[in-house]
Amino acid sequence: MSTSHHPFYMAELVWPQVEKYLQSRQDVIVPVGSTEQHGPTGLLGIDFLSSFKIALEVGAQTQTLVSPPLPFGMALHHMAFPGTISLTPVTYIQVLNEIFRSLTQHGFKKIWVINGHGGNIAPLTTAFCEFLDRDQKTEFQLINWWHLPEVTEYEQKVFGDLNGFHATCGEVSLTQYTHTAAYQQIPKLDLKEAGPAKTRWPLSPIEFRQHFPDGRMGSQPNLASPEHGKIIFDKAVQAITRKMTA
Ligand code: NI
Repeated sequence: MSTSHHPFYMAELVWPQVEKYLQSRQDVIVPVGSTEQHGPTGLLGIDFLSSFKIALEVGAQTQTLVSPPLPFGMALHHMAFPGTISLTPVTYIQVLNEIFRSLTQHGFKKIWVINGHGGNIAPLTTAFCEFLDRDQKTEFQLINWWHLPEVTEYEQKVFGDLNGFHATCGEVSLTQYTHTAAYQQIPKLDLKEAGPAKTRWPLSPIEFRQHFPDGRMGSQPNLASPEHGKIIFDKAVQAITRKMTA
């Protein structure tokens, strides 16, 4: 994983470089995620930090421009936990539309959205539909990195059902690998079983906290490790790179 300068990260370029890129390429990667609770031992930024780091590496390997990440998403169901910052669905869809409009006005035609948060899937899909109703020339590809078969197979093999549905061993592991120093500051906790994650859905924020008092949904992130995280990161990067170059 490259750590310092990212030659395909737009925020570290100047506009003539983007203009030159657009003369031969019209594809771009947009990383999206969320800022929300991930249990007592997972970073609030997991969902956008993970998609951003994956996007940077995929961008480097496929020589595709990467936009800055969108750190806020649709996380209203996590709002009973402090530190969560959520947009309402209508606002989020609008923000996505305006990001897509900015990119397409400059000539981008194919937008790869690398997403790190389940609550974003419905509004993302809605935003694509709205956008395509006005602009039929743009192509969208949504990649939810934790849903990639290469990732889920590995997580099932090493974590089994204790991977859980939120604050999963997989996403905690991945960010323990990419953000090792941040995790070294987090107190180690002896987490008990999180209990069954199945419930009716969606829940109100208060109901969510009643069902899942420490924020985890069926996960045992004590099983997470940066070593697993590196393997999951590499699998996600390889799988997305394969999709993009197929
Ligand atoms: Ni997450």
